[in-house]
Amino acid sequence: LQSGLTARLRQATFSSFCVSTANQTAFQMCQAYAERWPAPLGTSEGSGLLLWGIPGVGKTHLVAALANRILERGARVRFCNVTQWLNRLRDEMREEDPVEERMEDLGNADLLVLDDLGAQKSTAWALEKIYQVVNQRYEGLQPLVVTTNKNLNQLERGVGSRIFGRLLEICAPAEVKGEDWRMKIARERQLRATSDELTAVASCELRVSSEEQSERQRELRVTVSSVEFRV
Ligand SMILES: Nc1ncnc2c1ncn2[C@@H]1O[C@H](COP(=O)(O)OP(=O)(O)OP(=O)(O)O)[C@@H](O)[C@H]1O
Ligand SMILES: [Mg+2]
Repeated sequence: LQSGLTARLRQATFSSFCVSTANQTAFQMCQAYAERWPAPLGTSEGSGLLLWGIPGVGKTHLVAALANRILERGARVRFCNVTQWLNRLRDEMREEDPVEERMEDLGNADLLVLDDLGAQKSTAWALEKIYQVVNQRYEGLQPLVVTTNKNLNQLERGVGSRIFGRLLEICAPAEVKGEDWRMKIARERQLRATSDELTAVASCELRVSSEEQSERQRELRVTVSSVEFRV
């Protein structure tokens, strides 16, 4: 079973995640989930997580860290970006590949991560496939971890109450707050570039003024020597 974790996501760990007051609840829930693995089965104890929050706050990072930790324990983990998974499924249908096997693949996973739910095109076909997967986890009491950049109301409107209701029943929701990390990095890079530019300008001006100074010293020497000459 392929985990589906990309090279970038395999690098995501809990220790490379900067914890702040804005994200510490979600961080702790993910870390505790990984530590407690295998997840307690049964809906009342919650066998899954639902991380939601605006883009760039670290939802994918956290669930990838969780998936990596659980993979290390030898569990069969399947990490799916929902949009990519649906696109692949659609392509395979065209090729007359056995789609059911693909679906079973997800069903066989000890842990299924559905990353970025709600970002897909919500066609009737797409929603039916998502429903099948979520319902399979729900009925089988199988661990499921989901992320979305919608808030809970938007998610319910986006995927419908059949999917949303099941998700909420088996997944403990946690909002990941904080600032968009991608914007923060871009701003810091911009700041560094600006400060490099300022340093360059400053040293250039310093050079110019020292040139001016030596020019003035030369003039002074000329004046001094002409004075001496007159004396
Ligand atoms: N608290 C953090 N500490 C370290 N790196 C972080 C943190 N938050 C985000 N990042 C990094 O910022 C980038 C964006 O984070 P991530 O992809 O997890 O965001 P997201 O919430 O899933 O966004 P989206 O909703 O767009 O999918 C990643 O490279 C991630 O490693
Ligand atoms: Mg993400």
